[in-house]
Formats: sequence, structure tokens, C-alpha cells
Amino acid sequence: MKLLHIDASALGDNSVSRQLSAAVVGRFKDSATDLDVAYRDLDANPIPHLRGSSLAQLDATETADAQQVLEQFLAADVVVIGAPMYNFSIPSTLKAWIDRVAVAGKTFKYTEAGPVGLAGGKRVIIVSSRGGIYTDSPADFQEPLLRQVFAFMGINDVEFVRAEGIAYSPKHREEAIAAALANLPEAELAAA
Ligand SMILES: Cc1cc2nc3c(=O)[nH]c(=O)nc-3n(C[C@H](O)[C@H](O)[C@H](O)COP(=O)(O)O)c2cc1C
Repeated sequence: MKLLHIDASALGDNSVSRQLSAAVVGRFKDSATDLDVAYRDLDANPIPHLRGSSLAQLDATETADAQQVLEQFLAADVVVIGAPMYNFSIPSTLKAWIDRVAVAGKTFKYTEAGPVGLAGGKRVIIVSSRGGIYTDSPADFQEPLLRQVFAFMGINDVEFVRAEGIAYSPKHREEAIAAALANLPEAELAAA
């Protein structure tokens, strides 16, 4: 089983999403003997913004990296993403990754009947960490964006591991992490 693990937090060892995404991946490591994990730390090893020069493939190193990013995503059975909320949305490093995996003809296509996702059959688990609390809030452009991006590529059942209210107080942070750890998704190939 191939698992792709992505982290995007800029907060290093103080990151909630890094702690929780590692815990999710740890569950898979504990339960699957044939697990093949690919890891990309988008803070330590960011992907360049998609620009005209990227589309024109002017930089061979950037083109090869983009190809590997897309191939790792296509090959993955399970994708685990640490996705903090930054300015009501996602870190720009994660958006840069999305710009390399949402590729026409590879992960989606347009037809006369509209768009069709081509990357179905994966399990996607997103660790969502946020300073505030956004349940039912119209200011949440993080989880709906991620849900839409993956649905567009044919992955409709995105699972969220959520830790909210991280910035409210140390107690809120501790309780949110503990609650998320107590409710980690089952480490099975198919969604429960
Ligand atoms: C640049 C930046 C922007 C942020 N923007 C928001 C925001 O819009 N709403 C919010 O609730 N928290 C915001 N936060 C707080 C983070 O969501 C919170 O610290 C969360 O724990 C980050 O995940 P991490 O601990 O994995 O880095 C922001 C943090 C940073 C560093």
C-alpha cells in the first residue's frame, strides 16, 4: 500500500498538524506490513509557485520535481495532509502543491457534460488545525476548498481530523489535540 504524507505547517516542532498527521501515518505504519510511505515537507522543501515559465517547462529541475509530485499523488492509495488554516484558507505552500496535482488530463478532464475527476479510488485524510473555531462558519475557506479540490479530482469522501481553537488558550490547545488523537481514523485502505 502506498501512502503519501504531506505537511505544510511553518511552525516546525510547535505544529499541531504535524503532530497529528504523524499520528495518522503512525497508525497506518502500525497496521500495514507492506506500507510504502512517501513524505513531502512543503515548508522545508517547497514547490515553486506555478508560473508561465513552469507551464513552458523552462526549468528542468522544477519540471522534474512537478512530475514527481504528480506521480506520487497518482500512485498513492492513501494521502495524509497536514493542512493548517492560514488567513482563513490554506498555506500558500499547500496551494502550490495543489497546483501541481490538479492537472488536466491526469487528475481531471473536461467533457461536453462538464468536469470529470480521474483520481478516484484514493483515501484522503486531512488534518485541519486552526487557531479559531469555524464549525458552520462562512469564514472557513480551508476545509471547503480542500473538499472541493479533491472532489473535482474524483475523490468525494475526504476525511478530516480537526483540532480547533488552538490559539484560544493552552488548555484549548491541549484538549483539541487530545480529542483529535482519540478519534483518529481507522488505518484501513478504504474509508470506514
Ligand atoms: C500565517 C498564519 C495565519 C493564520 N491564520 C489563521 C486564520 O485565519 N484563522 C485561524 O483560526 N487561525 C489562523 N492561524 C493559526 C493557525 O491556524 C494555528 O496556529 C494552527 O495551529 C496552525 O497549524 P499548525 O500548528 O500545524 O502550524 C494562522 C497562523 C499563521 C502562522
